[in-house]
Amino acid sequence: MASLAGRDLLSIADLTADEIDSMLDLAGAAKSGSSLGTPLAGASLALIFQRPSNRTRVSFEVAIHRLGGHPIALFNAEVQLGARESAGDISRIIDRYADGIVARLISHRDLVTIAQAADCPVVNALTDQEHPCQVLADCLTVREVVGDLRGARVTYIGDGNNVCTSWILAAALLGVDLRIVCPPGYEPRHAVMQTAARLGAGWQPRLERDPARVLADSDIIYTDVWTSMGQENEQQQRREDFAGIQVNDRLVSLAPEHARVMHCLPAHRGEEITDSVIDGPQSVVFEQAENRMWLQMALLAMLYGEAAQSVGVA
Ligand code: CP
Ligand code: NVA
Repeated sequence: MASLAGRDLLSIADLTADEIDSMLDLAGAAKSGSSLGTPLAGASLALIFQRPSNRTRVSFEVAIHRLGGHPIALFNAEVQLGARESAGDISRIIDRYADGIVARLISHRDLVTIAQAADCPVVNALTDQEHPCQVLADCLTVREVVGDLRGARVTYIGDGNNVCTSWILAAALLGVDLRIVCPPGYEPRHAVMQTAARLGAGWQPRLERDPARVLADSDIIYTDVWTSMGQENEQQQRREDFAGIQVNDRLVSLAPEHARVMHCLPAHRGEEITDSVIDGPQSVVFEQAENRMWLQMALLAMLYGEAAQSVGVA
């Protein structure tokens, strides 16, 4: 059994392909009704939210509760990271009370500081650079929809942002056929491409400007908001720059009928995706959102327990 005991998850790059496969197997088993036991019995986990959340907070709180643990959600109005107290001091204190930290932070650098200052596991619940828990859950959804991640043709249409970054790293590890369609100036960072090449023995995603060039054989059409949290003052410019790649009925019609549409949510309906697509027959966005909980149960079980063995997952 792949154990992650005592580890941090700041980036997809912290995991191996085998560890991700085990996590997906375990998440699938949990979703099918296998008990993961109570590896968090007696444990308390602090959840720090410097940015708003619906899915991440609720799915983590429920996952922790189901595994026997106690979640403590902290919002920025209380901890005031960097203003009332430094990231390092907040981390040192929580490490003395709690058994783990799940943090959604504005800056990835603060997450690294928190991880360095704490002995307990630290999990990235979204930063400006990555959203690993989202993309691990998305891998579960792609596996359910396509059957196999290896060779799955996933077309990401949108900004080269935190979600896109985690997708690139996961695809590099797992051999996903990832294509990225974005306007000039919104490509993933060069450092991300370098990390992907290292993880995937030279693997790179295919970068395109025109979705028509990659949709015809896509299994998955994936999008995220054009304006991420913290970029609100760029919203007007971004609306103009991304206008040609809205995921609408015309664009989806370029893909095969079996293609499914994914979005990490929350959606800016009418911007990156239309109501007709998100509520349409090819959308799996709500199943995708549900999978956050199953995946995070598996992640926590691998960080804190022996649950994978008890349900026979390698
Ligand atoms: N997808 C996601 O992380 O949703 P929340 O921002 O609501 O947590
Ligand atoms: N890219 C989005 C993801 C939200 C879950 C953001 O950072 O706001």
